[in-house]
Amino acid sequence: MCSGARLVDSPGTASLSDSRHSASARLVTNPSVSNAALIGRMLGLGWRYRARCLLVIAQQMLRVVLQLAGLGMIGLGIDVLRSYVDPTATAPNWPLGIHPPASWSPLAVTATIAAGIALFSLAHAFVRFLAEVSKARLVERIVVDLRSRVYARLQRLSFRFFDANETGSLINRVSGDVQAVRMFVDGVMVQVTVVCLSLAVYLAYMLQIHAGLTLACLATTPLLWISAVVFSRMVRPEYMHNRTLVDKMILTLSENIQGVSVVKGFAREPEEIAKFRAATSDVRTQKHKIFWRLSVFQPGMAFLTNINLIVLLGYGGSLIIAGELRLGEGLFVFAGLLQQFASQVDQIVNITNRVQTSLTGAQRVFEVLDAPIEIQSAPDAIRLPRARGAVSFEDVSFAYRDDVPVLLNVSFSVEPGMCVALVGETGAGKTSLVNLIPRLYEVTAGAIKVDGIDIRRLHLDDLRRNVGVVFQESFLFSNTVAANIAFGHPDATREEIERAAQIACADRFIRDLPKGYDTVIGEYGANLSGGQRQRLAIARAVLLSPPILILDDATAAIDPQTEFEILQAMDAAMRGRTTFVIAHRLSTLRRANLIIVLDQGRVVQVGTHAELMADEGHYLQAAGLQQHAVHPGMSPPTARRISA
Ligand SMILES: Nc1ncnc2c1ncn2[C@@H]1O[C@H](COP(=O)(O)OP(=O)(O)OP(=O)(O)O)[C@@H](O)[C@H]1O
Ligand SMILES: [Mg+2]
Repeated sequence: MCSGARLVDSPGTASLSDSRHSASARLVTNPSVSNAALIGRMLGLGWRYRARCLLVIAQQMLRVVLQLAGLGMIGLGIDVLRSYVDPTATAPNWPLGIHPPASWSPLAVTATIAAGIALFSLAHAFVRFLAEVSKARLVERIVVDLRSRVYARLQRLSFRFFDANETGSLINRVSGDVQAVRMFVDGVMVQVTVVCLSLAVYLAYMLQIHAGLTLACLATTPLLWISAVVFSRMVRPEYMHNRTLVDKMILTLSENIQGVSVVKGFAREPEEIAKFRAATSDVRTQKHKIFWRLSVFQPGMAFLTNINLIVLLGYGGSLIIAGELRLGEGLFVFAGLLQQFASQVDQIVNITNRVQTSLTGAQRVFEVLDAPIEIQSAPDAIRLPRARGAVSFEDVSFAYRDDVPVLLNVSFSVEPGMCVALVGETGAGKTSLVNLIPRLYEVTAGAIKVDGIDIRRLHLDDLRRNVGVVFQESFLFSNTVAANIAFGHPDATREEIERAAQIACADRFIRDLPKGYDTVIGEYGANLSGGQRQRLAIARAVLLSPPILILDDATAAIDPQTEFEILQAMDAAMRGRTTFVIAHRLSTLRRANLIIVLDQGRVVQVGTHAELMADEGHYLQAAGLQQHAVHPGMSPPTARRISA
């Protein structure tokens, strides 16, 4: 066995039952969350934007006042005209007692009133413009803030969370549901205040015109409130269901786009079209249910409000005949007020509808914001700017799900600067093992130490900066080649980027790209070959120059010659850093200082290539099969994993 490596004894079987991760990371919408709790939380959110909300409310109220002033002027105009036509009619009621000089002709008086009406309309239009602008600013601010918060939360959540939640649902939460929460602030909070204040103003104005007529006309109002409450209770579960269906639709779409090559390769387009059609039609059918209820509810409410006008004509008309009410400032203005009142009550219907949408959306947004961050730095975390690179596993067990152990009592220790190869058949737990080192997942039992410190006590940023990973499936961003290499180190100079690319044997093909290092890579690295993408991923890890480097099957998509070149070049880069390689080629395994053979989550052999070849075990069998093509009595999958 190579110097420095030792196999630590495993003290017994770890109990997986004491897992701290028994709780599923999956977001489950809890139907028992009370509306009051959600509304309370959204009010809290709205409170942050109180200044902007107040501005919008003030402008909306100014609109109401200007509108009423205009209406009052029209009423006055009618009464003035009526007094010219019928001198016995009740004299017009000039506002604030200011009336035009007696010498003015009727035309001059009417023209002045008309000019007043035009002035109020103009002011109304201007204030409306201001109110729209303020509202748009408020909306933008909330959406940007909230999206950023959800996004920031997503960055801190663990792999376990992303394993458990579909991309479609998460995308929908960041895009659609955030809009729903925003709607609560501008479409519910602000709007409710405006509607209540406007209703109060209309009511006061109507009462001042005629108290009896007001009460008679508004007798149906309590019915409207009751219907609104009943309606809101009825549709909430429907809205919730709707969001889940939309999630499913987005998932179908995003999977189809990401898996386009598989879909086309297997000529499954018709089935995919049918699948998407089914998903959209589910959404449509479900939306229909909501629309159907809405389309009964809305006209019903409108009918109730129109009853008011019938009362007005009957009762109001009799008051005019009795001389108790003016035609313009009385009946006409009253009719206008009632209409405004009705439109505000109509708003209540919209608001109730919005409340339902926003409650559903809010619950889903808050679920992300509240998702526990399983893996984070302890408050008193130890800082470790640069590790030496010693790594030890002490009786480590790990499971994705409680009942299925993936790693069992894994123990070994590695000195700084060693190259460790992990070998084992597919599903043996190699990727799972290396993912534990940068704490992408948390161990279920036991401990992993870097430089003798338990990684759970290290500052997470420091730990991850010290561990460079080239994943089995590397992801490239739709950005330039240079930016992709410099992803973990954005301040890197062009020389540093090129040096890293040279080590990863990527420099030559990059220079052949249309714009060299400034070529923008298509989404998901679409315009590069698998081997080229992998070499960029290696360059990205090399650039960070981490003391611990993990290459998870990083050379699988690369031909043996290039792999040899990469490893040659990386020899220099690897010097002084601990490297974990998962590879299946003998050429790579021979270079390793230590080979760890995994079988079904357990370490079954540890040693150098020469030592393991001298041992009767998994490794020899695998290598033997590869060299002699046939070797009876060995496990074929393991054998297939090692090749020349
Ligand atoms: N995110 C996950 N959630 C649940 N189970 C998982 C997850 N990833 C892997 N597994 C399971 O854990 C076991 C070990 O998987 P792992 O990816 O570590 O194997 P591997 O040795 O890297 O295999 P390969 O050589 O094919 O890459 C497998 O049974 C696999 O199904
Ligand atoms: Mg793997």
